[in-house]
Amino acid sequence: MRNELIITASILILTACGGSSSDDPAGAAPQPTIADPALEQAAAMFAATAFAPTGGLPALPNLVPTANEFGFAATFSKTGVIDRTGPFFQSLGINGRSCSSCHIQGEGWTITPSGVQQRFETTDGNDPIFRLVDGSNSPKADVSTVEARRTAYSMLLNKALIRVGIGIPDGAEFELVAVDDPYGYASAKELSLFRRPLPTANMDFLSTVMWDGRETILDPAGVDCVLGTTNCFATLHFTLGNQTNSATVGHSEAPLPISDLQRKAIVDFQTDLFTAQIFDRDVGYLTSQNARGGVVALSSEAFYFGINDTLIGDYRTQAPFTPTAMKMYEAWTSASPDLSIGNAQLRDRVAAARNAVARGQTLFNAKPIQIRDVKGLNDALAIPTIPGTCTTCHNSPNVGNHSVPLPLDIGLADASRRTPDMPLYTLRHKTSGATVQTTDPGRALISGKWNDIGRFKGPILRGLATRAPYFHNGSAKDLHEAVEFYDTRFGMGLTVDEKNDLVAFLRTL
Ligand code: HEC
Ligand code: HEC
Repeated sequence: MRNELIITASILILTACGGSSSDDPAGAAPQPTIADPALEQAAAMFAATAFAPTGGLPALPNLVPTANEFGFAATFSKTGVIDRTGPFFQSLGINGRSCSSCHIQGEGWTITPSGVQQRFETTDGNDPIFRLVDGSNSPKADVSTVEARRTAYSMLLNKALIRVGIGIPDGAEFELVAVDDPYGYASAKELSLFRRPLPTANMDFLSTVMWDGRETILDPAGVDCVLGTTNCFATLHFTLGNQTNSATVGHSEAPLPISDLQRKAIVDFQTDLFTAQIFDRDVGYLTSQNARGGVVALSSEAFYFGINDTLIGDYRTQAPFTPTAMKMYEAWTSASPDLSIGNAQLRDRVAAARNAVARGQTLFNAKPIQIRDVKGLNDALAIPTIPGTCTTCHNSPNVGNHSVPLPLDIGLADASRRTPDMPLYTLRHKTSGATVQTTDPGRALISGKWNDIGRFKGPILRGLATRAPYFHNGSAKDLHEAVEFYDTRFGMGLTVDEKNDLVAFLRTL
């Protein structure tokens, strides 16, 4: 039941080398809060390694807690340990970078602005993440002084965004007719797309790889097929092996492809990893009182291609689609007081906070959303308004990505939402002459299709608490802004309490 608690405690026993402290005179604070000194101590003990791209201890035990804004997350590896000696942590190219330059355990296996800023300050902007190839706003930026570097890497520093360079594909239905790039670099040959690195954990649940699905390879002989179509895909392992190589050649500027052995080692490492929040300051352990949050439960969550497809249902069992995709916190709907909490005042507050998480989960599953103008849904089905919920799109049970590849345009790259730090591209349809403005054409740069402009995959929603800012372009600085986006975009009419409940739920993922 309290796996995380027990394992955290055993980490401390196993590794208690010099921890002499019993240093918490709780009572100094006016309001008691829920806390576990064992968790804090374990987090502090391993932070120097967990938050470093490389170096530190050669391995971290399973379930080492890492602190974040709302509490603690943890990583669980099926191998029982997070081995940091493999190629994922090695510099395989020429610029000093490894995969872990941009995919760090303590930062949710992605990167966060505060982590990037700290690396900048301790290295004067010379850490290998600060490289012209894709770290800077433009590959031609001046990086000769610390101050120049601060300007050159502003997107990375402010929003932890990497510049993904992709050109207009041959034979595309559209052409680029105007570029408004504040950094003076982008062209039809290479658009500058500022995107958040996706986590390299929880990958067993992926139905498609990269924001635009570009690493998900169509394979007529594949076994993962969208029902009723001829769209079949290569296995996740094949796809990832390929991705591993493109990442090394791209981000690390390796002159030659990496070996099959290295690819396999990296893919195996990543697909063994799971990460999630395990402890939230307001509600405590996410496994308390029979809740099924936390990373251990996540690691045994069932997933296969089409497990809960919104249109077709479960590909294997033929069960109909269920919008009740999130089922971790029903036990907290009417939680009785948790008698393991000694202080009566705190016990009441925790009970109320657990109820809020359960209400947030119910809203996520059931609060009606009138889905309009979403490319990939409304146009594909020719239905102007689809009555749905958050789980219409986030439908993988207890994981929250889409269970089959379905890039959608929910409007995040629209010109109307452009911020001055983003480039703006004007695209024209080659035959109709219609034009559209976007900050990122998304899927359309892979498929060449006009209708794919602005379409991105729905990412896995576990481990959110660690990895603000959200969306492909980091446009929501926190979970409140993410919820606010949906409320405005779809006219949901959420009350302040409902927004707070949704955030209370999302931060426990
Ligand atoms: C310079 C930063 C950087 C480095 C170094 C880097 N990545 Fe990434 N990674 C990203 C970005 C940015 C994305 C998202 C790009 C997109 O979708 O267009 C990403 C996405 C991914 C994804 C897709 C996950 C998903 O949910 O679809 C995987 C897998 C991945 N990276 C693995 C690796 C591996 C393996 C390495 C080392 C060989 C590596 N990355 C090195 C920045 C980086
Ligand atoms: C019409 C489909 C759709 C619906 C409905 C929907 N989402 Fe999303 N969601 C997406 C897509 C697509 C993305 C990725 C968009 C991007 O970044 O371009 C996303 C991204 C997110 C993210 C950011 C994750 C990250 O890693 O950055 C959060 C948080 C989120 N959704 C929460 C919600 C909540 C809460 C609701 C209900 C109020 C909801 N979504 C409803 C499709 C949808």
